[in-house]
Amino acid sequence: MKKLVLFASGSGSNFQAVIDAVKTQKLSAEITGLVASREGIGAIDRAVDHNISYTIIQEPDPQKESEKLNELLNQWDPDLIVLAGYLKKIPAFLINRYRNAIINIHPSLLPKFGGHGYYGLRVHQAVIEAGETQTGCTVHYVTEEYDQGAVIRQEIVPVFENDTPESLAKRVLKAEHKLLPEVIAELIN
Ligand code: GRF
Repeated sequence: MKKLVLFASGSGSNFQAVIDAVKTQKLSAEITGLVASREGIGAIDRAVDHNISYTIIQEPDPQKESEKLNELLNQWDPDLIVLAGYLKKIPAFLINRYRNAIINIHPSLLPKFGGHGYYGLRVHQAVIEAGETQTGCTVHYVTEEYDQGAVIRQEIVPVFENDTPESLAKRVLKAEHKLLPEVIAELIN
């Protein structure tokens, strides 16, 4: 059985989509752990509810952060690392160690609306301001540069005239929940 480790900073609805896919056997994998970037986030509650080990990594010293992550990943031994709404930068050593085995989900059609500063509702706000008629989500490999690794798959979502960043985020998130488990299944099979 292939092993997955997820990283999250928020509500963890994408994490939940992966949990659900495992539970319903759409995804033949085991989630060995969750790395959370801070306390009190929804993703942790979801890990607890589903008996998934989690660790909060909130280490200001980059060297110590890397050591902690290294130790954790030795233990959890993932075949694939999935960033599901993780807002912190991934240390370079990890990217090297797991080259082409770390993926991220981003709520736009990259390369559009990606890179530094494009996260959360800011992405959808920018899409609306640019007058786009369609947006979507992207799963891509993680490299040293934010949102620049090779695209694996995208899902298109329409933008409606009366959309707010919130309504658009909701529609895109629904597409993310479908896309992410599908891509993981594709990669680990
Ligand atoms: C998603 O829109 C994801 O694309 C982005 O952060 C959001 C996380 O949402 N990277 P959730 O925590 O999975 O609900």
